[in-house]
Amino acid sequence: MEPSLATASIAKHLQSVLPATGREALATSVLPALLDSVAAVAVALRAAHHVALAGGTNAFGDDQLNVDVVAENLVREALARCPTVATASSEEDPVERSVSNVSAVSSAHSSEVYTVGFDPLDGSSIILPNWTVGTIAGVWDGATALGSRPADAQVAAVLGVYGPRTTAIVALRVPGQRQQPLCLGLGYTDASATTPGRWNIVHANVSLASPTPPTTRYFAPANARAAAEDSNYRDLVLHYVTNKYTLRYSGGLVPDLVHMLTKGHGIYLSPVTAASKAKLRRLYELCPVALVLECAGGKAVDPVTGASVLATPLAHTDERGGLLCGTAEEVDKAVEWLGRETT
Ligand SMILES: *[C@@H]1O[C@H](CO)[C@@H](O)[C@H](O)[C@H]1NC(C)=O
Ligand SMILES: *[C@@H]1O[C@H](CO)[C@@H](O)[C@H](O)[C@H]1NC(C)=O
Ligand SMILES: *[C@@H]1O[C@H](CO)[C@@H](O)[C@H](O)[C@H]1NC(C)=O
Repeated sequence: MEPSLATASIAKHLQSVLPATGREALATSVLPALLDSVAAVAVALRAAHHVALAGGTNAFGDDQLNVDVVAENLVREALARCPTVATASSEEDPVERSVSNVSAVSSAHSSEVYTVGFDPLDGSSIILPNWTVGTIAGVWDGATALGSRPADAQVAAVLGVYGPRTTAIVALRVPGQRQQPLCLGLGYTDASATTPGRWNIVHANVSLASPTPPTTRYFAPANARAAAEDSNYRDLVLHYVTNKYTLRYSGGLVPDLVHMLTKGHGIYLSPVTAASKAKLRRLYELCPVALVLECAGGKAVDPVTGASVLATPLAHTDERGGLLCGTAEEVDKAVEWLGRETT
């Protein structure tokens, strides 16, 4: 499949960084299709003046918004045009199944076969006041992600960001290849009456691994209420306050992470405490964002074990965890603080 006009130059760039063989469809079909769906969701959100409950709940019991359903359908439509995407599943429909009748047939003739796990619209709780929200997607080798170790099987991730501007981050790390992990920052130029929409590369190397110390240090404490019950979390937040870190937290996972990727420094904390259970889904949220963070030279770890989010095989589609991620040394420090014995 040829990439769309909007993504043609991105596809060309991805082809140039990927090894010559074996990943043609990832560069020219799957990632461009995901970017097309991000652009389509952005247009749909601009036109959505009445954000309302769609009347249902998703399989996890969360209320579904009408815009969740719209975004879900747009991503699935885009993936259905990719013959190598054998299956997809999402937070709204967490069963890995074929996205089109074509894929099952065509994928048999290709060396590339993928499954995509996605959260079509992350940030439902802040969409009503029109704050920035996002789409999260991970691309995995094979027709299922279940049982695979994400560090080996998840080869790419996309974060779509819907704010005053439409932007995206694309991360790529194909195991067994000499290609360096890649973290691209993209911007979308809306279509006008005379020109079609177009994705442009804004940052060729999004990085959290600057060799020079940051001038400003940022922290994003999710579920700050948990600090009322957990003294380690409270002490850690206090540590950031006393050391004059700057608070940057919107409550949207995507914009909060993209903030630190853009600024080149930060720590995002979503700890698991006795009173607040693990909330983030591994397949739809944690694994894609962890790949982005690692490709940018940062870390993303499980707050309980301190191990990389990508280290343990995926057991099922509803698996959940906490998250500590950001600049590597900040993540190490947070793991140490949160793991302290309490008296
Ligand atoms: C595939 O085609 C069958 C029969 O035409 C239809 O019932 C089914 O819903 C289709 N499946 C998908 C995933 O489109
Ligand atoms: C939400 O904000 C965007 C710009 O960020 C704007 O284009 C859109 O019209 C706003 N929507 C509503 C319903 O206010
Ligand atoms: C990207 O940035 C990192 C950290 O600043 C650096 O180590 C790496 O070499 C850069 N990669 C490219 C391709 O420029």
